[in-house]
Amino acid sequence: MFITLEGPEGSGKTSVANEVCRRLTEAGYPIVRTREPGGTPIAEEIRSVILDKKNTALDPRAEALLYAASRRQHLVEKVWPAIKEGKIVICDRFVDSSLAYQGGGRGLGVEEVLKINLFATENTFPDLTLLFDIEPEKGLARIAKNANREINRLDLEKLEFHKKVRQTFLDLAKKYHERYVIIDASKPLDQVVDAAYSAILKKLGNKQ
Ligand code: TMP
Repeated sequence: MFITLEGPEGSGKTSVANEVCRRLTEAGYPIVRTREPGGTPIAEEIRSVILDKKNTALDPRAEALLYAASRRQHLVEKVWPAIKEGKIVICDRFVDSSLAYQGGGRGLGVEEVLKINLFATENTFPDLTLLFDIEPEKGLARIAKNANREINRLDLEKLEFHKKVRQTFLDLAKKYHERYVIIDASKPLDQVVDAAYSAILKKLGNKQ
């Protein structure tokens, strides 16, 4: 079982995932929690190049390729082996983030970005994708309030960029409706956690 968590900036998906994984572990499910870009030492090194605020000259296609490279390494070293062992892999971001940020936000085109990702992942798609949906204005306001969170290069993009990202996620949720569940991330944390947890349990139930 491969579950991915997606959403625009400030959706709170990481805090939600912490709580959801705690509950799943307590309930006895074998969870592997990981994230993109990163998740293994080589992939984390690629992450630091991509997210470095100094790298303003990073070309959009080079950026998309780096995400795909990091994704590939992470799949080979961590995700595929865990799935083979029968684990439930919960991954913070995956291909859909590239489609939304590079394809939609940067304007490279969803189909173009999908092509390089199909090569990188050998057509791997998640069984379930939770989209933590929030208006960019609200998400960015949350980030601004949270002084502890590190601001990365993409956080600094204009509001227009984040609007395109959100819209692309919503379009993807329609296109891939059989694996997508949209969760209203503007609600209070405990309600968002409950919604995410029950969507995962439902999927696990369907698999057994
Ligand atoms: P995070 O804030 O969830 O750790 O994600 C890091 C940033 O990388 C976030 O701004 C989204 C961005 N991103 C992409 O632009 N494309 C991708 O393929 C992935 C995985 C993340």
